[in-house]
Amino acid sequence: MKKLIVTIAAVASLAVSGFALSVEIPAVGKTKCGTCHALDKKTVGPSLKDIAAKFKGDKDAVSKMTASVVKGGSFGWKIAAMPPRGLNATDAEIKTMVEFIAGLAK
Ligand code: HEC
Repeated sequence: MKKLIVTIAAVASLAVSGFALSVEIPAVGKTKCGTCHALDKKTVGPSLKDIAAKFKGDKDAVSKMTASVVKGGSFGWKIAAMPPRGLNATDAEIKTMVEFIAGLAK
């Protein structure tokens, strides 16, 4: 019986990690960032996955990205200047998005 439960738990966790593969941009990111950023292809701005890769392994990723998003401008992608706060995102919305982007690197 115990073995059966362990097996069920293993199958369940597999299913959960399977779901994690289909990532959805948070709603706020679609309205205030999505005009310029897509999940995995370059549109007006770099893709969120490319941004995540740039900051991968950087323990200050969240604070650095937050500073970039709040200030706007150019960060070396040589694309165009990003408007400060994207499309008027609040601090809380920026936090949601930056943490989402940082999570993509894992
Ligand atoms: C009007 C278009 C536009 C909008 C809206 C926009 N961005 Fe950007 N973003 C850009 C561009 C263009 C760049 C690349 C700038 C460069 O060439 O260095 C960029 C770069 C970034 C970077 C990389 C910063 C770095 O240090 O490398 C992050 C993070 C980012 N955007 C997050 C966001 C978030 C979060 C939002 C929504 C709150 C958002 N952006 C909304 C155009 C936009």
